[in-house]
Formats: sequence, structure tokens, C-alpha cells
Amino acid sequence: MIVVIDFGSQYNQLIARRVRENRVYCQIEPPNVDIETIRSLKPEGIILSGGPSSIYEKNSPRMNPAIFDLGIPVLGICYGMQFMVDALGGDVRKAEKREYGFAGLTIENPGRLFDKIEAKTPCWMSHGDSITRLPDGFSVTATTDNTPVAAAENAARNLYGLQFHPEVEHTPKGKQILRNFLFDICGCKPSWTMKAFARDTISHIQKTVGDKKVILGLSGGVDSSVTAMLIHQAIGAQLTCIFVDNGLLRLNEAEKLKIVLKQHLKINIRFVNASRLFLDALAGVTDPEKKRKIIGKIFMDVFEAEAQKIQDADFLAQGTLYPDIIESRSAFGGPTSVIKSHHNVGGLPKKMKLKLIEPLKYLFKDEVRILGKTLGMPDELIWRQPFPGPGLGIRIIGEITPKRLAVLRKVDDILIAEIKAAGFYKKLWQSFAVLLPIKSVGVMGDKRTYENIVAIRAVTSKDAMTADWARLPHKLLARISNRIINEVNGVNRVAYDISSKPPSTIEWE
Ligand code: XMP
Repeated sequence: MIVVIDFGSQYNQLIARRVRENRVYCQIEPPNVDIETIRSLKPEGIILSGGPSSIYEKNSPRMNPAIFDLGIPVLGICYGMQFMVDALGGDVRKAEKREYGFAGLTIENPGRLFDKIEAKTPCWMSHGDSITRLPDGFSVTATTDNTPVAAAENAARNLYGLQFHPEVEHTPKGKQILRNFLFDICGCKPSWTMKAFARDTISHIQKTVGDKKVILGLSGGVDSSVTAMLIHQAIGAQLTCIFVDNGLLRLNEAEKLKIVLKQHLKINIRFVNASRLFLDALAGVTDPEKKRKIIGKIFMDVFEAEAQKIQDADFLAQGTLYPDIIESRSAFGGPTSVIKSHHNVGGLPKKMKLKLIEPLKYLFKDEVRILGKTLGMPDELIWRQPFPGPGLGIRIIGEITPKRLAVLRKVDDILIAEIKAAGFYKKLWQSFAVLLPIKSVGVMGDKRTYENIVAIRAVTSKDAMTADWARLPHKLLARISNRIINEVNGVNRVAYDISSKPPSTIEWE
């Protein structure tokens, strides 16, 4: 396995992803992890990630430099390389010429890291600091026009540094560089599979939980369902799931989910219908963040009240994924600004004093789907598109009323049926309808109409951090629009959203 030390780069998750794509397990640890923990993980290699700080700043993240004395190969990327250089006695200064974006890399000495890579190749740079002096025993292995030390190594100690980012798609040979590190330098074997992950995680959950009870908020989405399945396989009846119907679900969703969940996950589930509470509290509210806060607060209250009924529960399980953690960093005072207060990370009911278990927290959505399959879950659950916690509440722009919910439910049902029938459901990250707060004029038969407009949103994405609008066939869009306008009373116009994320977001609110 490989340990990745997280110095805070936005690309960290990509490093983890790239390592696992090579079927090598990797675990991400914070810089303050102690050396004994690292030693006990017995990693074949260590990757120091990039990060937004400058090493010469007072509070820049550092770790125990003893990491370089473990005899384990280390690859430092960007800030990770600068930390290594600084810790071993070299110098890092503010660069005269900062380098962002593509740069031409010239490999001076391929060594083992650049084996099988041509001498000139593009790379992706993103740094404002540069190495001005290498520590003893290091030599430059590659340069760019603006960065004389674009890569360096101390081959005798197996320490390597890259100023550029091998993990991003924009560095075309990055994958080969990482493979060279993993297999040639560290001697890893490509043997990690989801089966192995499931086995290790189940045994870890058993050890952590012992004979205590675990509570899980089940939404019916793939993340919480796979979490439930894993924990169920680990501790059986010690797990109780709580499903809260907030009145903002899709057409017949609660009923349909009940059937699927009971049939396939023979798990203890408590269904709570709290629609009235939610809809009453949302009456007259139009501000998206207010909606989220109200929905989040009532969810907590309802969930807590139900959870209190379960005696001796010590743990709360959540289906947090790795991108959730990254996107929510701002919630913990990180440098990025809060776009939407949407994720459940850190949303632990404090009063309940439960300990958190998040078995999927280092996984990506596609990995979770493979894991679900490995655990024997049906496609119907594994391939559900993500659905936000506030549900249709943030897809009705403006006020949420039972009438508007009914309109949107019908529209959404037609849309999803057509997307599925055309074979697009699995190919899209999400596809949904948004009810707008404006009306438009239309003509039906010979009559003037003045009715609602709905927007259709369909996007492709890997992890929701970026997304592109889907180029759905015109024929399919035509069928969707025809059916919606003909079959849903109160809608006379359908628009298709052609914006990508960024700069737009996936949801409209
Ligand atoms: P945005 O709209 O920020 O969404 O591009 C990214 C992903 O997050 C989902 N989303 C939410 N999920 N509560 C959730 O549980 C929320 O408030 C929320 N807002 C957005 C969205 O559906 C997409 O998958």
C-alpha cells in the first residue's frame, strides 16, 4: 500500500484515485500523523501531496522529517517536494516567474522515475515558489523554461520530487510516472481489489464497533445503501437504519424504496414520515440557503428523536465520500469559499454523543458502485443517480407548495422514464427537472395558456466537482418536452440547461 500525506492540495483525491486505478491500495493521512502509525501501515511508498501553502510561511503544514529515514521510497509533489527539500536542508523561495498551466518538461536524467518517457513532454504546473538549492545528495532530473528544478532525486535514498502535477490529465505522461514510482521504485503489486477493500473494511468495522449498536440515516441513495450493506455484513442486527420521508422526494419514491430496500437489504429499517413538519416549516421560504438550513435542522430533529428510541447506540454511520470531504473543507475554515452549505460532513448530532463511522470516506462514487456490486447489491440501487438531501425542495425555485411539488414530481417522473428508456440513465451523472418561478404564454388547442416553465438538467461528471451538460440527442429532448407539456397540467414550456460546472453548479439552487 501507499500512504499519501495530505498537505491540502485540491488534487489530493486525484493522487489517491490514480494509485488505486493501478490496483494498489492507498490511504490518506494528515501531516501530523505519527511515524509509528506510518510504520505500522507498512507502506511500500509514501507520496507527499501538493498544497496551497508556502513552506517558508510560519504556519505552513509540516510533518516529522523522520519520514525520510524509514527506508521507504518517497515521492514529493509540488508543495510535498518543497517540504522534502526544506526538511533535508535545501532552499525554497518565492519564484521570480510563477508557473501555472502547461509547461514543456525537459528530462535531463530519466533515472527510474522517468523510465519509458520521452525527453520532452508537457506537464501541468501550479506553483508560486521554486527550489533554489537542493539538499546534499540530490540532483536535478528535469527542467522547464521557468523552473530550473522541475524534478529532482536522491536515487540512493529513493527520494524523488516533482514540481509539476503527475496526477492531472494535463500531464499526459503523469500516469506512466506514477506507475514507475509504484511498481519499479516501490515494488508494489497490483493486487488491491474492491473485494479486498470490503473484507478489510468489514473486519475493521467489527473491531471498532464490538458489541455496540450503530445507527445509519438511509436515504436510498447508493452511498448510504452501500454503507448499510457493509455495516450489516459486519455486525448484522446491531445496525438500525432510519429513513426520513421529508415530503420532498420524487413520485412514489418512499414506497418504491421501501420495497427495494426491504427486499434486497434485509436490514432493520425504521421509516418515519415527517412530510408535514418539513412542508409547514418551508411555507413561504424562497431563499435557497434558508431552505437548506430548515430542511437540515428538521432532519436532525426528526432523526435524533427516532435515534433516541434505540437503546445503547454508540455509533452513527454516514455514507460520506471522499469528494464530500474535499468540497466541505471550507466548512472547517479552509481557504475556499462556501458555495452551498450542502454536505452532511460534520453534521453529527452533538447532543447524541455518537462516534462517527464513515467506511466510504476515501472512496469515489465509481468505486462505491463497484463495491456495491461486489457486496451483491442490485443494479437498481447501485446505479441510482445522486439525489440531494433537500430533494425537490431545491429544484423548485421559489416557494415550495404541495401543488408545485405535485407538478415537479410528474415532470421528473416522465423525464427519468424517457432517459432510462433511451439508455442514458447510467451514462449521466444526474438528470432532473427544475420548476421555475416564472410563467410563460403558450397556446394549446386554440386557447391561450399562461403556465409554468420547467428546465431540464442533464450532466455528465465523475465526482460532481466538475460537470458538463449532456449532449442528449434532439430526438430524445423532443420526446421529453412533448410528453411533459402534453401530460403535465400546468406546464407549457420546457427549456434545456446548457451550462457546465464551473461556472454554473449542478443544482440550480
Ligand atoms: P452542486 O449543485 O453544488 O452539486 O454542483 C454537487 C452535487 O451535490 C448535490 N447537492 C446536494 N447534496 N445536499 C446534498 O445532499 C444538498 O444540499 C445538495 N446540493 C447539491 C448535487 O445534486 C450534486 O450531485
